Amino acid sequence: MKTREINISYTEYENMDQLSSADRELAEAAIKAMSGAYTPYSHFNVGAAVRLSTGEIVTGANQENIAFPSGLCAERTAMFHAGAARPDAAMEEIAIAASQNGRICASPATPCGACRQVMAEYQGKSGRPMSILLVGGEKIWKFSRVDDILPLIFDSLK
Ligand code: THU
Repeated sequence: MKTREINISYTEYENMDQLSSADRELAEAAIKAMSGAYTPYSHFNVGAAVRLSTGEIVTGANQENIAFPSGLCAERTAMFHAGAARPDAAMEEIAIAASQNGRICASPATPCGACRQVMAEYQGKSGRPMSILLVGGEKIWKFSRVDDILPLIFDSLK
């Protein structure tokens, strides 16, 4: 019998100025994408921006529905758009930003489990790591691969 540990490391930045220019561009695209959110029920606006291996940036925002489960998160809106429009491109990085009552959340908003699972799928599809940039108003977190926010990714189906 043995107790094992899973260690996760990630980078915390204090502000956007500390990001590389590519990450800053993606973070700004996620912030801008929040304006496309349709959130009459939660008033919680999320924007996501995916950078593809082609260099293109594809964005999405959460879309709510009066039948709640019919709505979709920003991350999946962006990834499904990218997957449909550019099926041969790898999704290299996804940036996420959220705001409530018009103010960007100070702490980074962390993606829900379903969005993490979809990230895992596209990372597996490309065979290349997808990094995740969580943009908060007071701090920014960067994870270098989906495994770091979804440990023990399901891959038993061969
Ligand atoms: N939401 C996202 O867009 N992404 C997440 O990762 C978590 C939650 C949305 C769904 C819903 O429109 C609102 O935020 C409140 O849950």
